[in-house]
Amino acid sequence: MGSDLTARFAALWASLAPIGRSGDSGGYLRYSWTSADADCREWFTEEAMDRDLDVEVDGNGNIWATWLPDGVDPATPAIVTGSHLDSVPHGGAYDGPLGVVSALLAVDEMRERGVRPATPVRIAVFTEEEGSRFGIACLGSRLMTGSLPADKAAALRDRDGITLAEAMSGRGQDPALLGPDPARLAGIDTFVELHVEQGRALQVPVGVASAIWPHGRWRLEFTGEGNHAGTTRMDDRHDPMLTFAFTVLAANKQARTSGAHATVGRVQAAPNATNAIPSSVTAWLDARAADEPTLAGLVEAIATQAKDRAGRDGTGFAATAESTSAETAFSAMLAARISDVLGGAPVLPTGAGHDAGVLSGHVPTAMLFVRNPTGVSHAPAEYATDEDCAAGVAALADVLTDLAAGSRDSL
Ligand code: HGY
Ligand code: MN
Ligand code: MN
Repeated sequence: MGSDLTARFAALWASLAPIGRSGDSGGYLRYSWTSADADCREWFTEEAMDRDLDVEVDGNGNIWATWLPDGVDPATPAIVTGSHLDSVPHGGAYDGPLGVVSALLAVDEMRERGVRPATPVRIAVFTEEEGSRFGIACLGSRLMTGSLPADKAAALRDRDGITLAEAMSGRGQDPALLGPDPARLAGIDTFVELHVEQGRALQVPVGVASAIWPHGRWRLEFTGEGNHAGTTRMDDRHDPMLTFAFTVLAANKQARTSGAHATVGRVQAAPNATNAIPSSVTAWLDARAADEPTLAGLVEAIATQAKDRAGRDGTGFAATAESTSAETAFSAMLAARISDVLGGAPVLPTGAGHDAGVLSGHVPTAMLFVRNPTGVSHAPAEYATDEDCAAGVAALADVLTDLAAGSRDSL
């Protein structure tokens, strides 16, 4: 892998970096069907067309860019790679975009090497992977695979009350086309997603995924009695903020004692007034564990403790699952094959969800991870070195070449 590839990575990376970046935090505000998303889509479409890839947008808003080598039947199921361009609020630069930029450069790299794939090679950009705007993670891939009903998706609302259907229509995308896309799914031979590692387990530039932890997000609703902060005696209060605060601490303790992960990073109080006891508090629990029983036990224990505390506070509590993802065990055979192609790359699990996790229930699927020196993700400090990213591109080119059974002048 020459320094040239590192330079090419840095150049393409720099062309995407300014899009949707917050001047305050340096993090990204790339939410689906917003102007930042439109700019990301335009960027990708231009880069794909510059590479003579055939670009399509499907009924769910996912983008597909296809390299059809000479002599290959377009109906041949493709080797697909790619990821997402949307972010969590003030998220890092690499989560998602690294997989898309690396896919474009892997096509360049394969062509440079004289690879002639025996199948089409396709790049996918999935919409709303983070669920930052409409609340359900991997929205685009769930819709495509039919694991989320179109009418439920169309009615999802963002924090301003705008529905997905309205947001899509506002950007010229017909929401009536939302729904399962079996033909597109049948056009996928194998899907390989490259992603920055979201942890510090990977000590070499490139690794291979073995599994994705089961995980989900639950809406927690605490209801009480709004009242005056100054005149209401402490004994007379039914304060949902107390029940909420207790629940956050209980979730943390429960996760620590069960080797799982629990986070409450988003909360809304009503009326959210400095001098009023809130009438309600709504918060979201992100819970993850290495296996389903541990995750179920974690969420149940948190809910039980919250209900018990609500009884003592004279408040109400309800928990509603909003977005859940079962455990993903990637094909061990495919992971081993890819590890071999990469000279024995380490194979490791992740606690982060991905579109690859959704697709793995439908087509052979794998993931490549690129080393993240600090492990920080979903924050502006997320980082990977250009050299490791270039190693990821070279590795992806190797893997796509192998999977596309491409003959090659040299590897
Ligand atoms: O939340 C996740 O695990 C992923 O980054 N969407
Ligand atoms: Mn993410
Ligand atoms: Mn991601």
